[in-house]
Amino acid sequence: MKDNPIIVGLDIGTTKITTVIGEVAPNGTVDIIGEGSVPSEGMKRGAVVNLERATQAIRQSVQNAERVSGVRVQTVFVSVAGNHAKAITSHGLAAIRRNQEITQADVDRAIENARAVPLDPNLEIIHTLPQEYVVDGQEGIKNPVGMHGVRLEVDVHIVAGTAGPLLNLRRCVQEAGLKVEGFVLQALASGLATLEAAEQAQTVIVIDMGGGTTDVGVFKRGNLAHSAVIPIGGEHVTNDLAQILKIPHEEAENVKHRYGAAVPELADPDLTLEITSANGATHAISAFELSRIIKPRLAEIFGMIRDEIDQALGPVELVAQGVVLTGGASLLRGTPELARDRFRLPVRLGRPRGIGGLTDIVSGPAHSTGVGLVLYGIGQDGKVPLSVFRDEPELAPAPAPAPAPTSGKGSGPQAAVQPEVTVVTPAPAPAPEPQKKDKGSFMERMKGIFKDWL
Ligand SMILES: Nc1ncnc2c1ncn2[C@@H]1O[C@H](COP(=O)(O)OP(=O)(O)OP(=O)(O)O)[C@@H](O)[C@H]1O
Ligand SMILES: [Mg+2]
Repeated sequence: MKDNPIIVGLDIGTTKITTVIGEVAPNGTVDIIGEGSVPSEGMKRGAVVNLERATQAIRQSVQNAERVSGVRVQTVFVSVAGNHAKAITSHGLAAIRRNQEITQADVDRAIENARAVPLDPNLEIIHTLPQEYVVDGQEGIKNPVGMHGVRLEVDVHIVAGTAGPLLNLRRCVQEAGLKVEGFVLQALASGLATLEAAEQAQTVIVIDMGGGTTDVGVFKRGNLAHSAVIPIGGEHVTNDLAQILKIPHEEAENVKHRYGAAVPELADPDLTLEITSANGATHAISAFELSRIIKPRLAEIFGMIRDEIDQALGPVELVAQGVVLTGGASLLRGTPELARDRFRLPVRLGRPRGIGGLTDIVSGPAHSTGVGLVLYGIGQDGKVPLSVFRDEPELAPAPAPAPAPTSGKGSGPQAAVQPEVTVVTPAPAPAPEPQKKDKGSFMERMKGIFKDWL
């Protein structure tokens, strides 16, 4: 067993650092044999801000995974947040001698020519991802080697990271006693872990909704063709709840997990919470109203993704055939429904698939990047390994989150009055949700809805 290759993913997220250890069987299938997650430390918006604390958290996460697997980790594939990366698509051309077959050297030359774009010297190339090839004007060729033609063209998606943040990340990993085998864009890793066989023939938008950021990858026939990052994530939803309900962050996180919904129509109609704010005031809020605080923030994220894709590729409805939502924040009830409404495309929740071993631990959407790093390590070409689709074991559903009970004393700072959230039923009749489009800044909209509270 120990002779099989071991591939390790180190996902450095804004809320958690996760190590996933995968063992590759001779037939290419992957068993997850170790996992270790710790809260993210020393990081801010995907960049290291405290070398020592980040190193310590990385070390802890790796040690936890080593303990589970009994394997000593030496090298890791490390996730890179998209907000320090720049992605461009470049065109490369190679002339082929008449009456000669296209060789791998010709393909490499075309790719090399595409790479020869002037890049800011402060950028380090992370990925060079060839899309499909064109031979003498014939498009859609996956592998041109052996074909005849005089003109070979290729579009290459180049992802480059800012050198400073990459150096800091490398330094932390090295200080933790590990070697960086490669950096991998988070959106790419998440796509590799979640895209299904049928989606390899389509254009699909993978949206990884994390804590601090939402990473977007557009996959065209299995190739990452565009990537972007929206600097808003699930933490912002929690902060909105904490600010508007005047409860501590932890309490807001519990309320969001247990009672939150992205669309008011899906909120529990029979649920009312009684909230004692830090200033001692008590309010009753229905789950319906709660989701009216949550929805604008998620709508804002989806709106920004729409704009981004509109500008880069064209109208979302025309560009893509579907959307895959993943990342921890996609677990909020009603999120796929809201995305369906905003993108007007089929939307599904994506979880890591096509793996064996500790599937119960890594089957949730928050593990897509970590598992995707391991899958990336197999081919290192940015494509989903074929073994993933060969024999897809049914994954156990993600374990239900078990947050601390929200009734009883709040766990906030030493305020004179401990903020408190209590469930009261039945709920008052929900107010109808305004049909108008949201206007103005986020806080202005919130003030409009909750004028008595702010
Ligand atoms: N059941 C749930 N319901 C609602 N939100 C959830 C649930 N589980 C996790 N979340 C939210 O998911 C977010 C964390 O997601 P994830 O673990 O994917 O982030 P991350 O990888 O650390 O961050 P990033 O990818 O932005 O760097 C948090 O905001 C958390 O509140
Ligand atoms: Mg993440």
